[in-house]
Amino acid sequence: MFRFAVTSRVCLQLVRGGSAPRIGQEISKRTAHTHGEQSTRFLSTSQPKLLSEEVEITFIRANGERIKTKGKIGDSLLDVVVNNNIDFDGFGACEGTLTCSTCHLIFSKPDYDRLPEKPSDEELDMLDLAYELTDTSRLGCQITLSKDLQGLEVRVPATINDARS
Ligand code: FES
Repeated sequence: MFRFAVTSRVCLQLVRGGSAPRIGQEISKRTAHTHGEQSTRFLSTSQPKLLSEEVEITFIRANGERIKTKGKIGDSLLDVVVNNNIDFDGFGACEGTLTCSTCHLIFSKPDYDRLPEKPSDEELDMLDLAYELTDTSRLGCQITLSKDLQGLEVRVPATINDARS
């Protein structure tokens, strides 16, 4: 409703030959009466939210090497590995088609619990074929990044099993 009031005032001002307020310029107090109160409003100067927000992810190799990286929200952990050219031998061999189990990753219990979705039956079947399986194992191609996964740390097993071979 306020927006409408401001918009129509701005239009009226333009029709009368006035100039519209620039972005960030204070809109006159007379344009912002709300239920008898007077308030001062500003046009927004904020930038539109970036569609591709990122979250930090740390991959930990079996030898303890920590690889800090970033992934875009909406990407899978497999995408993060591929997009950042991280060299995990044989990782993601089936390119996310859920037929290889080479993208097996191990989470800490708290991280595992904050993953947004539980594994599907197909993922569980494929996990059964992975080496070094734990109670907090998941397939990286099935984990989609969200804002809630900021700071995620995942262990990469020392050995992989390509279920296709
Ligand atoms: S990449 Fe093959 S199961 Fe995930």
